[in-house]
Amino acid sequence: MSTDPLLALTVTTPVLQLCGATEELLDRLAAHVRNGQADAEPPPFDDPISLYEADPELRVQKWRQGINRGRVRFDSDSWRLYFAVVVDGEPVGMQDLLGARDGNDRTVTTFSWLAAAFRGRGIGREMRHAILHLAFDGLGASEATSSAFTDNSGSNAVSRALGYEPDGIEWQTRRGQRAPMQRWRLTRAVWQRERRDDIRLDDVQAASVRLGW
Ligand SMILES: CC(C)(COP(=O)(O)OP(=O)(O)OC[C@H]1O[C@@H](n2cnc3c(N)ncnc32)[C@H](O)[C@@H]1OP(=O)(O)O)[C@@H](O)C(=O)NCCC(=O)NCCS
Repeated sequence: MSTDPLLALTVTTPVLQLCGATEELLDRLAAHVRNGQADAEPPPFDDPISLYEADPELRVQKWRQGINRGRVRFDSDSWRLYFAVVVDGEPVGMQDLLGARDGNDRTVTTFSWLAAAFRGRGIGREMRHAILHLAFDGLGASEATSSAFTDNSGSNAVSRALGYEPDGIEWQTRRGQRAPMQRWRLTRAVWQRERRDDIRLDDVQAASVRLGW
């Protein structure tokens, strides 16, 4: 197990585990990034992002560099945690949690991708349940936000199903083209009404201290 509290942190549901994205897990996830399985059609990510890089080896290299840069930029008012989504021992995608603190407000937002072969079987919804449990129960978040291009049926369906309220449209660029993005917002009170009792957090206390949250 990692000695870094942010990598040792795990979230376990009956279906999957979110594990801090160690170098070993990233090495295994790289196969999905290399073969284009992290991307989708219509394009789900706003620019710029390594996952749109055309050359497979350069894509993996830029993706790893982006994660390293995100870890270095860490501070208590603004951080990003990177988790591998592990199903039956196999890393099949990533679920990131981004935190921003402003006075007593602690807002989190999420970013995720699942390898194409594992989509459409409820894993996306389950991993969002898992990361929200960490955010609200483990880290005391006050609200969670999300956003997805309006034609991203999977991501928008997950937000709707988990009780997020629509929070306006913003325009972003993807692959160089402007497109509308749906913003979503979930308050702690709404999450609390539907909270699950079958999700386990391990090593959250040390991580919370390290985050300063
Ligand atoms: C978004 C993503 C993580 C969702 O994961 P998933 O495992 O496919 O989603 P689930 O199987 O849990 O489905 C969740 C809901 O979305 C719906 N859905 C999933 N894919 C869909 C699709 N292509 N078209 C229409 N509906 C879809 C499901 O029917 C389900 O709806 P329900 O809750 O009403 O039953 C996954 O599709 C993905 O990795 N996409 C590419 C990257 C991406 O879009 N990341 C998010 C960027 S904002």
